[in-house]
Amino acid sequence: MAQSDSQIYCFFQGEFVPLEEAKVGVMTHALNYGTGVFEGIRGYWNQEAQELFIFRLRDHYLRFLKNTAMMFITVPRTADELVDLTLELLRRDAFTTDTYIRPLAYKSSEQIGVSMEGVRDAFTLFAVPYGDYVPMDRPLTLGVSSWLRSDDNSIPGRAKVTGNYVNTALAKNEAVRNGYDEAVVLNRNGYVVEGSAENIFLVRDGVLITPSVADGILEGITRDTIIRLAQEELRIPTVERNVARTELYYSDEVFLTGTGAQVATVGSVDGRIVGDGKAGPITSSLQSLYFDIVKGRNPKYMDWLTPVGAGRGIRAAPAPIS
Ligand SMILES: Cc1ncc(COP(=O)(O)O)c(C=O)c1O
Repeated sequence: MAQSDSQIYCFFQGEFVPLEEAKVGVMTHALNYGTGVFEGIRGYWNQEAQELFIFRLRDHYLRFLKNTAMMFITVPRTADELVDLTLELLRRDAFTTDTYIRPLAYKSSEQIGVSMEGVRDAFTLFAVPYGDYVPMDRPLTLGVSSWLRSDDNSIPGRAKVTGNYVNTALAKNEAVRNGYDEAVVLNRNGYVVEGSAENIFLVRDGVLITPSVADGILEGITRDTIIRLAQEELRIPTVERNVARTELYYSDEVFLTGTGAQVATVGSVDGRIVGDGKAGPITSSLQSLYFDIVKGRNPKYMDWLTPVGAGRGIRAAPAPIS
């Protein structure tokens, strides 16, 4: 049911409740031990079409279900059922602005002890109006973090587990305290992994390069999108390989990709200007392709979008969070 008020809903304990009523107890396993798995999904409001388009919604849920299985968290729904549930939530929320969607599955029993055996699972889902995650009106400044990415055999970064984000939080916080917009995280072998919540791409002599999936990255859906667009639209293949820290300084272009950061130009790394400090030609081409597609302006890629569709109530757009 569409609402005309400003109520934001949350799917919690099997029903839609006002977001402020969705609360967990302090003894919850996931709160104490980081045993949750989440997704970050974006919806883009298209004013002309009066439609909210969700980008690669089903792909996010396919990744989510792999990640929950990795953590022995049972979500008793298929990807298609999760898509339907998300659309139902968004029809209730009736946002007419860009939106961020957060599914979260977690170990929910309230008990002491880290074992996950016999611990109950829960699933929750909410969405909020959302603007830019990183500044988009200027190139970003990056600093290489002193915090190394946890090894795949310690805490697998690919799994999008809540506990992993301690590593991310330390890296991002250090970068911000040092005056940078974002962190670049290295792995134990000294190779570049990614940003705190973004994958990273370099352009050197017209070649697109990104760290490989064996380097400890999160296998980003935006990363996959960019690799496909570069190949399909620009005829530029992407080389997936180890990337040394100093290669960032020597690159012609560097950019970050992620649901939050979208496709963000990097202007400098550790105070060294990348290229001429502005978005280079390949970054710019990929940015315009990406934003046209996610906003529903490129008919060729409409399969990547799920329209929220009928049932929407009209509601004034809240100010995006920046
Ligand atoms: C650590 C990390 N790397 C990369 C990404 C980018 O992934 P995606 O493009 O699927 O949002 C994210 C964002 O979710 C992330 O948290």
